[in-house]
Amino acid sequence: MKTVVCPGSFDPITNGHIDIISRASELFDRVIVLVAQNLEKKGSFTHIERVEMINTALGDIKGLNNVYVDSFSGLLVDYIDTHEVSAVVKGIRAVSDFEYEVQMSLLNRRLHPKFETIFFTPSEENSFVSSSIVRQVATLGGDISRFVPKSVEQMIYVKLCKGYAKV
Ligand code: PNS
Repeated sequence: MKTVVCPGSFDPITNGHIDIISRASELFDRVIVLVAQNLEKKGSFTHIERVEMINTALGDIKGLNNVYVDSFSGLLVDYIDTHEVSAVVKGIRAVSDFEYEVQMSLLNRRLHPKFETIFFTPSEENSFVSSSIVRQVATLGGDISRFVPKSVEQMIYVKLCKGYAKV
């Protein structure tokens, strides 16, 4: 059984993430969407909220029966080691992503020689979508409906859009 992990901050999950997760779920037996509890980076959502948002979003999509959600703190290589994971899947949107992701991939392989990273490209319509763009647009009261799943849109507005009418 081939299990892959899609790790990330998911602060919040976007249609870009879901695109990559869906592609991975078609190719591999099991996909773990892995929410990083980053102690250095204070996110807009707690890791518990992020897990809840992802479960809500994925629950609405048919055919993702092999996708599970988990969270972790610490090194990704330690999670890989203890969960029988074959590879890590990351999405690459642009050259800027590529430079960072290749660095992380090489670093992780140095920490764990069997570490493999598989890079997926997103659909064109999601190629510019990022969590930080969604946070920024939502905070300023803009329309995020084309960037995130319907089921999590309101959760994002409630948390981020305090000074504007969307809540
Ligand atoms: O969505 P992001 O913020 O690009 O995800 C980055 C993430 C969580 C995949 C990356 O920061 C990570 O793997 N964090 C876990 C800690 C770790 O193993 N870091 C690498 C060595 S410093």
